Amino acid sequence: MSRALQLGHFGLRTRNLSAAIEWYAKALNARVHFQNELAAFMSFDEEHHRFVLWDDGETGEKPEDARGVDHIGFGCGGPSDLADQYDRLKTLGIMPTLCVNHHFTSSIYYRDPDGNEVEITCDNKTTKADCIAFMKTPDMATAMQPPLFGEEFDPEEFLKLRNEGAPNDDLARIGL
Ligand SMILES: [Fe+2]
Repeated sequence: MSRALQLGHFGLRTRNLSAAIEWYAKALNARVHFQNELAAFMSFDEEHHRFVLWDDGETGEKPEDARGVDHIGFGCGGPSDLADQYDRLKTLGIMPTLCVNHHFTSSIYYRDPDGNEVEITCDNKTTKADCIAFMKTPDMATAMQPPLFGEEFDPEEFLKLRNEGAPNDDLARIGL
């Protein structure tokens, strides 16, 4: 029997290849494994490429409400790890546009130089099974209200709590 498919990589057209490479290298701690004048193949883990950035000189603007991929989410180890990511990116001069506690997860959203939305997210439950179990509860249905599908939180308050030693269970309730 064939193995289940896994997410492999994504491709992004950019209007400024060097700016995109620099941003993703910082934001995702990613490395370039191949580059030419048109494209860069990059990865942030053991994979040979998790994403390709390219600029063929003919990339147009993407309307905010265009159909297709809306954002790309990257997981991290948990609420404390998410606070670390916020702190790391802040040090690099990359600030979020929005922070939302989605109850079963928390997310910090950024915009790359082309305006694509990049989400860094953590689970607020101990296991994936716990997250899926929550998703089947009435609390999930109540929480998933547009436009935010959760409650906004202050990342500085989040980082302060983490730096004061708050456990993940407390950090997971930020903004609720
Ligand atoms: Fe998302």
